[in-house]
Amino acid sequence: MEIQSGIICTILFLVICGSAVFIGAGCGQKYTSTSTLTLKQAFENDFYVGAALNYDQVAGKDADAIAVVCKHFNSITPENMLKWVKVHPEPDRYDFEAADQFVAFGEKNNMFIVGHTLIWHHQTPFWVFRDKSGNPVDRETLLERMREHIFTVVGRYKGRIHGWDVVNEAVDVDGKLRRTKWLDIIGEDYIAKAFEYAHEADPNAELYYNDYDMYKRGQVRGVIQLVKDLQEKGIRVDGIGIQGHWGLYFPANDELEMTINELAPLGVKLMVTELELTVLPDAFGYRGADISKSFKAQKRLNPYPKSLPGCMHRKLADRYAELFSLFHKNRGLFSRITFWGVHDGYSWRNEWPIRGRTDYPLLFDRQCKPKPAFDAVTKVVQTDK
Ligand code: GLA
Repeated sequence: MEIQSGIICTILFLVICGSAVFIGAGCGQKYTSTSTLTLKQAFENDFYVGAALNYDQVAGKDADAIAVVCKHFNSITPENMLKWVKVHPEPDRYDFEAADQFVAFGEKNNMFIVGHTLIWHHQTPFWVFRDKSGNPVDRETLLERMREHIFTVVGRYKGRIHGWDVVNEAVDVDGKLRRTKWLDIIGEDYIAKAFEYAHEADPNAELYYNDYDMYKRGQVRGVIQLVKDLQEKGIRVDGIGIQGHWGLYFPANDELEMTINELAPLGVKLMVTELELTVLPDAFGYRGADISKSFKAQKRLNPYPKSLPGCMHRKLADRYAELFSLFHKNRGLFSRITFWGVHDGYSWRNEWPIRGRTDYPLLFDRQCKPKPAFDAVTKVVQTDK
């Protein structure tokens, strides 16, 4: 009976996947990795390989994930633990419990620790922008709140957090500054101020600007303009984070190559900061990474609720290989590639931009086992070497 259903399953795959020869990792079959290298070994001469961690992992509730992190990654970013809303939920109250554990974990394991993120329009509590009567605060008040927050948070981890995403997503896809409360109340120099305060709080920490849609021309040009303006003012910017909330079919390789070529003359480090590749259909054409977007669930938009067919594993592996070839080719420019999560089970992609889907965007599956995409990534270096 088992043999029969196995044969039926295999035939089904070959039919569904056309000419695909890959039949592992589907129909409940286990995939066995053939790589002899860990991720950090594979890219040890090139760039850090990082993962975003959530609190459950830091608190030891996801032991398998932590084993993967220790084995494969040499950099960590907190998924939410250092966001304003978590760390500074009320005017006179900071909560560093989770962030302290995160930093201690990174130190214990000798990792490059990234702080994410100081100034953003999302996940920042309302009180930051309002006075006690609920009216918007003035520029000086908001600047003082920003300064106090940055000094407290960056100061606490001085010399321990090695790089900070100082400002997140300040540029819109048309290249103009995004309309946010930071911009409305303080004005355009809020970005310069954030970088200045962060530098004062820890002069040795690297400081980054981080954004999504970094393959669209308007977006990239807006970010270049922003960084040039900061550089002309003598403000320290060490790197640009290219969020990688991408998919099997976007961005195109030449779009990314163009981005890299356009950013390179700025002379700052480049990093892919939030990499994952959704294998699911686009939510009604949306391909950005605005976390406030949310679309209605539909069965056809959740095609792999139980497992991912082998041909899709192959596609994911090929796509990851293409991207890592590009990163590796540009290894002189990239200082870090960070995945947004450790394994598929905990990826935000399962809930965004449509709730309750089953996605497979990372290199490790829900059991924390390496997927074909993992082997494809480590093979890139062996082939290039
Ligand atoms: C943005 C932010 C991240 C995270 C992701 C969604 O890219 O920079 O901190 O919130 O969205 O998980």
